[in-house]
Amino acid sequence: MEGLIKEAESIIEETEEGSMTRDAGLIIAAQKVEHYEIASYGGLAQLAKTMGHEDVKELLGQTLSEEKGADELLTEIAENDINWQAEQEGAEDKENNEEE
Ligand SMILES: [Fe+2]
Repeated sequence: MEGLIKEAESIIEETEEGSMTRDAGLIIAAQKVEHYEIASYGGLAQLAKTMGHEDVKELLGQTLSEEKGADELLTEIAENDINWQAEQEGAEDKENNEEE
């Protein structure tokens, strides 16, 4: 998790403040965290089930659903808007560099 946080910090360092490119990068970084959480809660929920701890399995399952929901929401935001805007920023930068 520390590595994932470091990666997000480097995205901030390497991108322009307020840019869609930064947002697109941060969405991917956030999704990596969600996937880490999904693997952890999913694995633990299965373990609790195997051990016969139904109450624990239910609780971990609820958290797992919340993490999956967060991941889907981030995908939606990226696909519906941010990625396209970030791509446009890249195209504008390329045009500006060609004019110089
Ligand atoms: Fe999460």
